[in-house]
Amino acid sequence: MSKKIGILTSGGDCAGLNAVIRAVVHAAHQKGWETLGILDGTAGLLKEEPEYRILTPDAFDGTILRMGGTILGTTNKGDPFHFPMKDGTFKDRSAEIIENCHKLGLDAIVAIGGDGSHAILRKLAQQGGVPMVGIPKTIDNDIGETEASVGFDTAVMVATEALDRLQPTAASHDRVMILEVMGRDAGHIALAAGIAGGADIILIPEIDYSIGNVVKKIEAVKQEGRNFALMVVSEAVKTPEGEQVHTTDSDGKKLYGGIGHYLSKEISKRNKVDTRVTVLGHVQRGSPPTYNDRLIASAFGVYAVDLIAAGKFDRMVAWKNRKVVDVAIEQAIAAYQAVDPSDTMVHTARGIGISFGDQG
Ligand code: F6P
Repeated sequence: MSKKIGILTSGGDCAGLNAVIRAVVHAAHQKGWETLGILDGTAGLLKEEPEYRILTPDAFDGTILRMGGTILGTTNKGDPFHFPMKDGTFKDRSAEIIENCHKLGLDAIVAIGGDGSHAILRKLAQQGGVPMVGIPKTIDNDIGETEASVGFDTAVMVATEALDRLQPTAASHDRVMILEVMGRDAGHIALAAGIAGGADIILIPEIDYSIGNVVKKIEAVKQEGRNFALMVVSEAVKTPEGEQVHTTDSDGKKLYGGIGHYLSKEISKRNKVDTRVTVLGHVQRGSPPTYNDRLIASAFGVYAVDLIAAGKFDRMVAWKNRKVVDVAIEQAIAAYQAVDPSDTMVHTARGIGISFGDQG
């Protein structure tokens, strides 16, 4: 039976989103279905006339697969259940979205998002919206029930390449280079890039550290005869006293950021070493996707269409044991995935001499 499906990207962008959209459009087209690309996530459904574009395989001319960002646009602001109005109040605008989904005649929605977006879109589906399937994407890699989320691999590659570029200049100037990476409350990017990029110290929110231990590691590196050190710190790492370091966006919203500079000052107070800080920021999101992100994006997109064809909804596609499976969205949201300090990669890092600042 012919279907009309909607697809949207929601939350922060990342590399690989266009590869997902492409896969969904191709797979849906093969079934004779129509795909509407909703613009700007839920924001496109909050307009009086829903904003969308019809997507057909010929829209994917060979360049889009390679592009970072999302051709549909996205937003990580404006929860429709608690929507910030111009007068400073909040309003539940979920009914408008639900009405617009029906106005478009959608049989199902493919939502590409992180845990927050999955929670919102699931609630909309439950409250009378159209049935949905979810596709996990986030550079933070913190969505439960899946071993991979679209965008993480690329973010790690960018952070690793940053370390590759910092190492020669660190060695030329006898410096300690501090690289602050994203990841929100999970240290996955810092951990993976730190190992792959040859860091001496990795600080992540999941492992408590002391400045004393960090300084000891820097001194140990020097004593071994090396004139530089590389350190990766995850943006949500707190000060040893437990204070969150943050910055603000143009609306005054608190964002993580600044721990790298804090650490630089604290290290310099105790040790005469020359430090420099690089805050990698959104560069981790905008790069062309790695081959691996393109592969999982494609596999997720095709499988999401299979789920709709089978009438299986309220499910998120997931990567487990080398293949795509589907899990209950509720379960995936509940199983938030931070770094487990007993994880193989933490053990690996320690095994190659990397310090987490927790041991002297
Ligand atoms: O969740 C993805 C992420 O890139 C985080 O790692 C980061 O803290 C946040 O989004 C940045 O958000 P924004 O795009 O609003 O600056």
